[in-house]
Amino acid sequence: MCGIVAYIGQREAYPIVLKGLKRLEYRGYDSAGVALLNGSGLKVFKKKGKVAELEDHLTGKDVRSHVAIGHTRWATHGEPSDRNSHPHASGNGKLAMIHNGIIENYSQLKQELLKKGHVFKSDTDTEVLIHFIEEIQQSNQCGLEEALRIALKRVVGAYVIVLVDEDNPDTLIAARKGSPLVIGVGKGEHFLASDASPIVEYTKEVVFVNDYEIAIIKADELILKNISNERQTPYIQKLDIELAAIEKGGYDHFMLKEIFEQPQTIFDSLRGRLDAKKGTLTLGGIREHAALLAQAKRIIIVACGTSWHAGLIAEYVIEELCRIPVEVEYASEFRYRNPVVGEGDVIIAVSQSGETADTLVAMEAAKEKGAIILGVCNVVGSSIARLSHAGAYTHAGPEIGVASTKAFTAQLAVLCLIGLRVAQEKGSITQQRFQHLLDELDTISEKVAVTLKLNDQIKTIADKYKDARDFLYLGRGYNFPVALEGALKLKEISYIHAEGYPAAEMKHGPIALVDENLPVVFVATHDSYYEKVVSNIQEIKARKGKVIAVVTEGDQTIPAMADDVIEVPAADELVAPILSVIPMQLLAYHIGVLKGFDVDKPRNLAKSVTVE
Ligand code: AGP
Ligand code: GLU
Repeated sequence: MCGIVAYIGQREAYPIVLKGLKRLEYRGYDSAGVALLNGSGLKVFKKKGKVAELEDHLTGKDVRSHVAIGHTRWATHGEPSDRNSHPHASGNGKLAMIHNGIIENYSQLKQELLKKGHVFKSDTDTEVLIHFIEEIQQSNQCGLEEALRIALKRVVGAYVIVLVDEDNPDTLIAARKGSPLVIGVGKGEHFLASDASPIVEYTKEVVFVNDYEIAIIKADELILKNISNERQTPYIQKLDIELAAIEKGGYDHFMLKEIFEQPQTIFDSLRGRLDAKKGTLTLGGIREHAALLAQAKRIIIVACGTSWHAGLIAEYVIEELCRIPVEVEYASEFRYRNPVVGEGDVIIAVSQSGETADTLVAMEAAKEKGAIILGVCNVVGSSIARLSHAGAYTHAGPEIGVASTKAFTAQLAVLCLIGLRVAQEKGSITQQRFQHLLDELDTISEKVAVTLKLNDQIKTIADKYKDARDFLYLGRGYNFPVALEGALKLKEISYIHAEGYPAAEMKHGPIALVDENLPVVFVATHDSYYEKVVSNIQEIKARKGKVIAVVTEGDQTIPAMADDVIEVPAADELVAPILSVIPMQLLAYHIGVLKGFDVDKPRNLAKSVTVE
């Protein structure tokens, strides 16, 4: 994700772009930059940090212009820094570009351009694209629009790009595939942005650009073409939602927006890594360590909170696929118990923020003792990412809601990929099982989208149980950590006491809690533990507990026993937690909202716990 804003018209462009970037900082805040076109040519200002730091940097500088493009970054390629900030310029300095998305084949394009003498100032995929466009323009002796069209036919990935050209200061050129772009149509002016929030105060007339469309924009003219250079009629719509709602994409809360982003964010986490049709799996971030991982004596996963739950699921996945002993440690406990760890051990640190102090210090302790450290993080260039020898990013985009949702499912997807990659290296699974699991991951995003359709039903269930004093969440095997995650979600946003437990463990004491006032959520999708879970449900029902069961669609047994049933699509037990956690997230969200709490900023909590 990132935020892009551009303006062309009679007003001063810079204040409009700056204000717009502040509105889009929820989409990314690693760095910010602007390119301004005025009588004295093209000026680019960019800086690591939030938009406010760019604003301070530009205080007192000449920012007069009527054409400007701006970007607030969520890094995917190249850590947050001044030089990796957008806009990026062409080699001759005449073009500047901002980009939202990922150029998957940037590395191959970069090699070609390096051979042609191009010099790069950054580590980003974006800079490769602007140089590629420049190369085509020069070698084909064609205009910028034509060069862009030719370039985009070779680009693999997702993009919204906006270009300015010093030699054509009255024109902006933009293109879109897979990332969002809105054009605001004013009187003698046009606005471009990632969503309507930077635009709505100036005009409510907007054009939502479609994939593979190119826009050529002057102050008083908007031309839309497709990638085959055929004119398209701009469809102007009237915005009817308010600013605050737009930033949340029309959802009431960032948490709900992020829950509903999961089909896309899981797809983004797998993109460029998984090709089920070819039967290939590429994890560039651990390429040099795959053999070492395969020979590991032991893998220790360190994490906190929701990320620790992801680690627990990874334990089942990696032990099942790779037959390597896995331990999952609360980072805070691991650090201070003088752990027995050293050469031959591999540590996997899992963290959304990449800044959790407990996890950081646990990694440092293990690194000092000679272990190899892999990081699974959502923030490029974060402290945990930088401390790791290798790793894989989750590409879930900024997670604003304090309760982690889309980052968790992205972690599960990436950890599953790591398990598969190591098993492939080790030869510990058959080619048939490997392909089957690639196919399962390839379809999981669509199954998540199907599961999200249960939202209204889950809201009804939430309303039925929202006044309960306590909840129990139970599961076995892969679903036991999902039960823990469900309990944590409920606790942190509805403030109701909830406990996750292995379903079989209930009979060793906790079943004494069960009575007709206790809702018990069972994560009971069809897997190798199913029959045992059915017995556990009967034990609860025998004591008048209220059972809310998440089951595999078509289950003929549990619906007859449970008080409420939520059916999710069938999936292999290794990837099923990506589905069974969705009802957990929605149940907690709706109970929190029904109880009138701020589910995006729950009391006592912070999004990133950077203190021990
Ligand atoms: C999860 O909903 C909580 N916000 C919290 O438990 C979180 O998972 C934990 O603090 C770890 O954060 P990290 O993933 O950024 O390291
Ligand atoms: N891939 C580009 C980068 O890492 C753009 C990322 C974004 O969409 O913010 O700079």
